[in-house]
Amino acid sequence: MDKKTSRASRVTIAQLMHPEHANPLGNVHGGWIMKLVDEAGALACMRHAKKRVVTVAVDSMTFREPIKIGYLVTLHAEVTYTGRTSMEAEVQVTAEQPVTGECTHTNTAYVVYVALDDDGRPAPVPQLILETEEDMQRMEAAKKRQAYRVSQK
Ligand SMILES: CC(C)(COP(=O)(O)OP(=O)(O)OC[C@H]1O[C@@H](n2cnc3c(N)ncnc32)[C@H](O)[C@@H]1OP(=O)(O)O)[C@@H](O)C(=O)NCCC(=O)NCCS
Repeated sequence: MDKKTSRASRVTIAQLMHPEHANPLGNVHGGWIMKLVDEAGALACMRHAKKRVVTVAVDSMTFREPIKIGYLVTLHAEVTYTGRTSMEAEVQVTAEQPVTGECTHTNTAYVVYVALDDDGRPAPVPQLILETEEDMQRMEAAKKRQAYRVSQK
């Protein structure tokens, strides 16, 4: 199976926050952001594996800034780790107030997906090509996170 760079499967999705995404005080539900994180991470991993994927683990998420109705939320997702059938995606979330242009980084999330074959069984994924020193450091950090998750099963 050919190796691939993480750049080849990068995904960016953006969504304007509407009242249905928020509580009566105008703060967007954390669960809505978690759904977008899961979608963005899954898309990056599907692009990488060229297979459908399921979410197997989500690391804890901390929201550092509130996101309000009317903000544009942007999610950048990239594959940071490949195992045999599993992949980790890093998802960066930012929120922009479109009128002022003020942009905040609200959180970074790590989500693990498993690629599935046509029978729904875990299937091998292409390994990551590590092009830069930064790629190697990210893979090393991701390997440690994955080893910890698997040890907690
Ligand atoms: C994902 C799933 C197919 C894995 O099945 P499984 O029998 O555990 O398969 P395996 O033991 O072969 O594990 C497959 C891979 O997942 C990884 N994995 C399993 N549990 C994990 C966990 N808790 N955290 C991180 N990785 C995990 C394994 O390390 C393995 O990775 P590798 O092939 O790269 O080494 C199965 O657990 C499943 O269907 N889960 C439900 C998924 C789902 O519905 N998600 C949506 C949530 S609502």
